[in-house]
Amino acid sequence: MIILAPSLLGADFKNLEQDIKAVEQAGAMYLHLDVMDGTFVPSISFGMPVIKALRSCTDMVFDVHMMVEEPARYVDVFRECGADLICIHAEACRHLDSAIAKIHQSGARAAVALNPATPLSAVEMVLPLVDMVLIMSVNPGFGGQKFIPYTLEKIRNLRKRLDKLGLDTDIQVDGGVTLENAGELLEAGANVLVAGTSVFNGDAGENVRRFLQIFEEHDGRLKRGI
Ligand code: DX5
Ligand code: ZN
Repeated sequence: MIILAPSLLGADFKNLEQDIKAVEQAGAMYLHLDVMDGTFVPSISFGMPVIKALRSCTDMVFDVHMMVEEPARYVDVFRECGADLICIHAEACRHLDSAIAKIHQSGARAAVALNPATPLSAVEMVLPLVDMVLIMSVNPGFGGQKFIPYTLEKIRNLRKRLDKLGLDTDIQVDGGVTLENAGELLEAGANVLVAGTSVFNGDAGENVRRFLQIFEEHDGRLKRGI
């Protein structure tokens, strides 16, 4: 299944509820929530109180991307605030295996993220344990950056590796995703696309519909075997 995850970081912070409703009504299934601690990444974004407050205004899946050092410390509290899917960076965990187990124990789905320059080998041992792998296609910390082209090959290699292991794990891609490169990312094997700027710049509802149309066309081509 192909999923669009609009990133709240690209929304109008004066009108979050309105922006969230716009993307939900247009058919986006996940809401991507970027939590930054000022240490793992240079910036600080938002945390528990904001996520908790937003939980009541939407039924979308809360996909919490934790750009936080030793994120296991915060798993239970983010789960209580409404996180459905918790994504932690391999680079930020001294004990990645137990951090993943902690997410599952909380009742959330677990994902592991890799910065652009981190090789796939960093997650090889935990591939059977996670529900999703996030391939960062920009250096995390800010919205509105340009897609780093070499990450495309990384997506292809990860999909091949998962196929070989017989796993249909989701591959999420985050950073610089646009209507122009979405098709190529799906072809490479990604199936969960995060988009901040390219959704919230302009008419968010219309942008979501355009992404979903690309997804449908891709599905159609797959079914016809093209
Ligand atoms: C970057 C964040 C992204 C960001 C994407 O560190 O993880 O989720 O919001 O923004 P765009 O789509 O503008 O690159
Ligand atoms: Zn993100």
